Amino acid sequence: MKFDALRAVLKDTPYMGVDEGWELYNFVLRNRPQRCLELGHAHGASSIYIAAALDEVGDGHLDSVDLLSSADRVPNIESLFAEAGLIRYLSVYRETNSYTWFLKRKIEERSSQGNCEPCYDFCFIDGCKNWTIDGLAFFLVEKLLRENGWILFDDYRWTYARHQHKPENDGITTRSLSVEEMEKAHVELIFHLLVMQHASFSNFVLQDGAWAWAQKNARGAKALQETSKLPLPQELAAPSL
Ligand SMILES: C[S@@+](CC[C@H](N)C(=O)[O-])C[C@H]1O[C@@H](n2cnc3c(N)ncnc32)[C@H](O)[C@@H]1O
Repeated sequence: MKFDALRAVLKDTPYMGVDEGWELYNFVLRNRPQRCLELGHAHGASSIYIAAALDEVGDGHLDSVDLLSSADRVPNIESLFAEAGLIRYLSVYRETNSYTWFLKRKIEERSSQGNCEPCYDFCFIDGCKNWTIDGLAFFLVEKLLRENGWILFDDYRWTYARHQHKPENDGITTRSLSVEEMEKAHVELIFHLLVMQHASFSNFVLQDGAWAWAQKNARGAKALQETSKLPLPQELAAPSL
């Protein structure tokens, strides 16, 4: 599906904007990940950029995970995909508590004789931005990520202190966090202390201060590169998305 055709489907659906969607879409076109995983799909905006690019490539699949409550979103991911005609690229999973339980199940499913056979080429983590949950999610995803697969974290600089009013961090009450936990950017900590120190990861890129990429490939560069996103083509720079 062409990128500009997505505008009619997405209209003003939160959360991912058109410029980030363009980046994600092009990442999939360039890298052709066969099996994609998304942790935190909300309405499915980011998911549909991934699936539209898989459709252009002509192959691939997206497993997308969120909480049970995401079924009640309007639109929800299923209705968005049905409208786009992309449902064959998608499997939706909903958890009572957390995507870490989905990952537990997937690791079990992929394990035999004490080894977990990886199955994903790309994982986009855009969920709760919490040290405890996403720190664990990273180690679980690592087990499922194939060699040369990419992991992408959104919200590198997000803090509880600056987003106290946001209700989307289901289950984590700010009352149970210390001032330091409120003020530190958890994704940035996860990226520096867990991802960049992990022996299997390299090719670290921080894009526009918000997206942190890493590749499961021990032979790549170990320093953090900073880049900006691909510029949107003029004709796609719509003000309303
Ligand atoms: C910012 S929204 C995702 C936006 C979406 N990726 C996009 O760009 O359009 C974050 C989502 O993560 C989900 N979420 C947060 N913590 C979660 C957890 N522990 N397990 C599963 N889903 C979670 C929330 O329900 C919410 O829908």
